[in-house]
Amino acid sequence: MSSPLLELDRVTKRFGRVVIAEELSLAVGAGETVGIVGPNGAGKTSLFGLISGDLAPGAGEIRFAARTVTKLEAAARCRLGIGRTYQVPRPFGDMTVFENLLVAAQQGGGLRRRASYAAAVGALDQCGMSGQANVPAERLGLLQRKRLELARALATQPTLLLLDEVAGGLTDPEVAQLVEIVRGVNAEGTAVIWIEHVVRALTPVVSRLICLAGGRFVGDGEPAAVLADPAVREVFLGTEVTAALAGGSLEAPPAVPGDGVADGERSEQ
Ligand SMILES: Nc1ncnc2c1ncn2[C@@H]1O[C@H](COP(=O)(O)OP(=O)(O)OP(=O)(O)O)[C@@H](O)[C@H]1O
Ligand SMILES: [Mg+2]
Repeated sequence: MSSPLLELDRVTKRFGRVVIAEELSLAVGAGETVGIVGPNGAGKTSLFGLISGDLAPGAGEIRFAARTVTKLEAAARCRLGIGRTYQVPRPFGDMTVFENLLVAAQQGGGLRRRASYAAAVGALDQCGMSGQANVPAERLGLLQRKRLELARALATQPTLLLLDEVAGGLTDPEVAQLVEIVRGVNAEGTAVIWIEHVVRALTPVVSRLICLAGGRFVGDGEPAAVLADPAVREVFLGTEVTAALAGGSLEAPPAVPGDGVADGERSEQ
């Protein structure tokens, strides 16, 4: 790999006794597609927080586009090209879809006037939301909210797109539509790191799969090989790996009993 777009160098993060990242190192190249899986509460969303600047690591260094960004605030990292979606979509409900995208382009992407309008229109088109441009975000259903979440990240014109469970709760045809959108984004050169429990959404898109568990990467490599790795099966997939390798419809195991938080209701860090 030539000079990586994103580098994590021995990044460590703990919440009390919960280890989110234990000297995690990772390099992601420009235009690369990486899927991240792992059990509930493994720290996947927190990993995005560390990359995007919502969370500060306890130790280690984060580099993006050949710059050390470890201490850079989230807004500045977004302007550098790190765009992210949130597991629970958080649009400005009383603003229209287009207004949400304009805010993302201007405040997130640092774009001005015509450039921001062009970015907002581009994201609208890319996500197939032109028909909803003037609809207040609070009136959107789940699929459209997920699309808007993706469009908001795209309106910032990222070179690295972080997707946090954008396929959760969608039907198979809706997942297929989402996969096409993400493929299109990647085809234009944007690197994608996609956290997803819906593994069937990941496999058509990513060339590399990583499993995060216990603050460490348990597997990292070609998706089928990672899904077949006994260590990954142990922490994440259980016996359902067979379905994935057969190209079947695979969902990750349900939330840990007692977790108490339904998909789509989690608070974000
Ligand atoms: N700000 C915080 N303060 C304290 N603990 C936190 C904080 N954010 C997350 N945690 C804890 O860290 C662990 C990892 O949370 P995180 O949301 O990153 O997991 P996840 O892998 O994204 O889980 P899921 O698959 O359910 O979305 C959980 O035990 C969570 O309760
Ligand atoms: Mg999460």
